[in-house]
Amino acid sequence: MNFLAELRTRLHGALADLTETPDVYTQMLRPTQDGRFGDFQANCVMALAKQRGASPRDLAAQIVASLEVADLCEPPEVAGPGFINFRLKTDRLAAATREIAGSERLGVAPVAAPRKYIVDYSSPNVAKPMHVGHLRSTVIGNSLYRILKFLGHVVLSDNHVGDWGTQFGMIIYGYKHFRDAAAYQQEPVRELSRLYRLVNQLSDYHTLGNDLPKLRETLAQKEQAAVTADAAAAAQPKDKDLQKAAKKTRSDVASLKDEIASALKKREIVDSDAVLKSLAESHPQIAELARKETAKLHAGDAENNRLWHEFLPQCLAALEGMYRRLGISFDMALGESYYNPMLAGIVEELTKSGLARESDGAICVFSKTSEAPFIVRKKDGAFTYATTDLATIRYRVETLKADAILYVVDARQSEHFALLIETAGRMGYDRTEFKHVSFGTIMGPDGKPYKTRSGDTVGLEGLLDEGVERARQIVDENDNQKPNPELSPEQRALVAETVGIGGIIYADLHHNRDSDYVFSWEKMLAKTGDTATYIQYSYARVNGIFRKGGIDPAPLRLKPPEIQLGAPQERTLALQLNRFGEALADVTVDYRPNQLTQYLYETANAFAGFFENCPVLREEDEALRQSRLLLCDLTARVLKQGLELLGIGVAEQM
Ligand code: ARG
Repeated sequence: MNFLAELRTRLHGALADLTETPDVYTQMLRPTQDGRFGDFQANCVMALAKQRGASPRDLAAQIVASLEVADLCEPPEVAGPGFINFRLKTDRLAAATREIAGSERLGVAPVAAPRKYIVDYSSPNVAKPMHVGHLRSTVIGNSLYRILKFLGHVVLSDNHVGDWGTQFGMIIYGYKHFRDAAAYQQEPVRELSRLYRLVNQLSDYHTLGNDLPKLRETLAQKEQAAVTADAAAAAQPKDKDLQKAAKKTRSDVASLKDEIASALKKREIVDSDAVLKSLAESHPQIAELARKETAKLHAGDAENNRLWHEFLPQCLAALEGMYRRLGISFDMALGESYYNPMLAGIVEELTKSGLARESDGAICVFSKTSEAPFIVRKKDGAFTYATTDLATIRYRVETLKADAILYVVDARQSEHFALLIETAGRMGYDRTEFKHVSFGTIMGPDGKPYKTRSGDTVGLEGLLDEGVERARQIVDENDNQKPNPELSPEQRALVAETVGIGGIIYADLHHNRDSDYVFSWEKMLAKTGDTATYIQYSYARVNGIFRKGGIDPAPLRLKPPEIQLGAPQERTLALQLNRFGEALADVTVDYRPNQLTQYLYETANAFAGFFENCPVLREEDEALRQSRLLLCDLTARVLKQGLELLGIGVAEQM
């Protein structure tokens, strides 16, 4: 049973006569951080009393008097300024624990009102290898998908791959002019991504070359301005605005210098390489010509469409390998190209209804709250990312009948999603929940977005390999330490894959998704602390108990024995095991998987406390031994199920 939800319902009843919005107040009933205050605490009375001009303690007493919780709790206590503390009856808790031990779903009831969710996640731009930046969307999206589904919602995952953008023009241009036929034959995707990088590099060479004089001119002006601003600031040291202005111009100068230095470096790389240099010289219009290839593709040019149809399946297949390793499969992967035939219709509808209008040759929707226009057709006639997303909404709402759409996308796209959601509402899609589930950036140890030492993005494939390699060392060390090592080389390899990849996934999910976080192998693979490794080890340790005792847990589940919660650590563990449903519900409030990682971490901790203090196999009282075995088995099941909902596996033996 979800005790939290049940107590909130009871409290709701007691508040019904006191306020018109009891829900606001029942949400303030929460699990306590400290067992001395009971298991749950309501701190809503102070707010309610203030509103009614009553004494909080009196009001608390009045609420307690009308609360009907005797079947669940000891009599609730009023504490401090007006807190109400609830302590579950231990026999009730024991009975509930026994009940969940006998349930497939570990006591988590399916939601009463299932909704249809579309989870839009991963969604890389194809034809470029996946890099570390794609990790967050992929793992956050996958865990939300799994959790919502487990809770009984109807959920479709959609990989909205970028398969129609400018990168295809670049690849097509590269393929037509620079391809190495033998390399393409052998490893097509590697060759395509080489071509993409080459065309990008050569276009940058010219674009930057063209931009440099302008940049230098701007720098000279800014430097001049900085001299003036510094002088003004020095003359009036107390004037905060002047100080601020001087600081701002100086930082503008610094970032312009950076920009110029990085442009020079990029040009230098080409200049100092005879082959690149001669390619650059023989393709001076490359940027423009690559754009034309994209335009031709979009306009239906036969040759470019043939190439696109040839390239795309190979690019998708390359992604597939990565998804398989991460244990991910999608219900749909309708890429941007799928919506191409619907784009003109969307723009027409927006224009007809007056939502969009022409501005500077482009067609835009102007927001009510933001300065930036939402461009749905560019001056040159091209449709945009925005147009595609609007068409996607129409399809998801009208054809797929979605009640909610989650976009698991980098926070840097916040403006796009704010405008998208606003526009969708104005188009009449106001019965669907649209949510940008945004997330921060993965940082390197230097506090800047995580890059390799040479400044390239970190490839996802290599990252997973390194995680597994490092995990292998840990697994080896751990097993070699034992008097009799238990694992064969094959088993060790399997465990390393589970621990390495699980570690990477968990490290990502356990951060508040809005924050940036620093990538650290040491932290993520630590055997103690808030890591997958710790939880996976806890799981394996429970299994070890059953293995050592030669005990099959299956009969325990079929006919759960009576549970005894005499020791405080037993009670704490049992309470924690009963909170699985609460944790999952917490995830869905604002789509935050870290609510679940935290729960699993606390569960592993509760188990450690129990295991240290309560003998299991050595317990002589048979009934108590059975009760403890059941707690062990239930712990293992909750940890395993919880990790699985995060997209993380377990090993029976580590
Ligand atoms: N392909 C995009 C990118 O890599 C992300 C797409 C996210 N989903 C969406 N419906 N816009 O930036």
